[in-house]
Amino acid sequence: MQKAKMIVDKEYKIADIDDRVYGSFIEHLGRAVYGGIYEPNHPKADEQGFRKDVLGLVEQLNVPIVRYPGGNMVSAYNWEDGVGPKEDRPRRLELAWRTIETNQVGTNEFVDWAKKAGSEVMMAVNLGTRGIDAARNFIEYCNHPSGSYWSDLRRKHGYEQPHNIKTWCLGNEMDGPWQVGQKTAYEYGRLAKETAKAMRLVDPTIELVSCGSSNSTMPTFPEWEAETLDHTYEEVDYISLHQYFGNKDQDSQNYLANGIELDRFISTVISISDYIKAKKRSQKTMMLSFDEWNVWYHSTDHDKQLDSWTIAPPQLEDHYNFEDALLVGSILITFLKHADRVKMACMAQLVNVIAPIMTDNMGAAWKQTIYYPYMHASVFGRGTSLQPVVSSPKFDTKDFTDVEYLDSAVVYNEEHEEVTIFALNRHISEALAVDINVSGFEEYQIAEHVVLEHDDLKAVNTAQNQAVAPHSNGKSSLKGGFVEAMLSKASWNVIRLKRVK
Ligand code: AHR
Repeated sequence: MQKAKMIVDKEYKIADIDDRVYGSFIEHLGRAVYGGIYEPNHPKADEQGFRKDVLGLVEQLNVPIVRYPGGNMVSAYNWEDGVGPKEDRPRRLELAWRTIETNQVGTNEFVDWAKKAGSEVMMAVNLGTRGIDAARNFIEYCNHPSGSYWSDLRRKHGYEQPHNIKTWCLGNEMDGPWQVGQKTAYEYGRLAKETAKAMRLVDPTIELVSCGSSNSTMPTFPEWEAETLDHTYEEVDYISLHQYFGNKDQDSQNYLANGIELDRFISTVISISDYIKAKKRSQKTMMLSFDEWNVWYHSTDHDKQLDSWTIAPPQLEDHYNFEDALLVGSILITFLKHADRVKMACMAQLVNVIAPIMTDNMGAAWKQTIYYPYMHASVFGRGTSLQPVVSSPKFDTKDFTDVEYLDSAVVYNEEHEEVTIFALNRHISEALAVDINVSGFEEYQIAEHVVLEHDDLKAVNTAQNQAVAPHSNGKSSLKGGFVEAMLSKASWNVIRLKRVK
């Protein structure tokens, strides 16, 4: 058995956590919208056609913000196609995913859905095939109260009050050759800056996200960040990061160490942002929006067999296993470690498409393995992120060295007098005994030790069988200011302390 130690102290503050770090993403892609959140003929559909069973699962996740409508799809999207009477909306070739887009769901319906889900909307504008003009009209349609062409059109469409969408993405992955309307860093930087200016003239209260690289392996990373921020720095509030992971080599110990790569990526983007801040003598600190992240690789081969130009095909339907859930836990821990700079993050995506929630058309809605760590972090990870002092045995893998078996983040919720320790044991064959010094938290007791574990790293959930699901029988005890916790091999743990007096 391995042994590790931790010190948790309320004075070791990283930052207050922005709840929006537990955001998600719905793109017009595959069955995310049609057959996912929206299926008018489903027995559980509400009066607008939204599936109430799906809404129920989203509510349990307590998702604070949902990015929409893309993704790659937004780079050739005409937002006007998705508003007004449904029967007049055009069917279009959707070029990013080569499907037919019926436009039966658009901006107004999605805003309604997000309200029902208890989420804010993070809206994206098309900077692939379009630009300043479409973006300024779109924000006028969404956020201007009345008395102008586009705001009055919204009212005519039945939405008297403005949507007041606060957060806007200036395009999506504009460095990617797969993007319709890909840009060089110079082209994007200039366009994003001028679009931001125009959008802020319509509504000065918005927050804007500038596109960072599509992932850390792009040949233009991190020069893309430096050059684009040189243009956009004073006009935007966030730079975006996207990253997906996979275990193609079937090397699980290596796979579970990917939090190290993520940490490096975040630290590099922080450094580049701060370099531009210094270069510009700016007072502003750029924050990070990690608005696409997840595991994505199980469905890649399957998707090559799909026919083009169909409606809502089953694209990107990864069936996640237990080790994927562990990595998702590690990703969330990494965001909490960077709570001072990562202010928004979106698990990509939410329903059916590389998603924690799956549906059968006309059938059930159910939870994938990755649903659980995401839910635990979102529900229990609100408050202040504390820096635990960790001393853990380490391992080396093909891609990483000196990786600690214990991966952990701690959240202190002063208002509710709760401390939550998220702890991953990355060791795939041995348990880890952890001594946690919590002596500064007098009068606290262990409320619960939730564990996600399974003997088979490849175990999956289905509509019929929740093989991978958490239990609350974790082994922890608190004596003399120390929590003694036993973390099973390859396990995700949520140890919750609560003040008792
Ligand atoms: O989330 C799936 C796709 O991944 C998104 O459309 C795109 O932005 C990214 O490449």
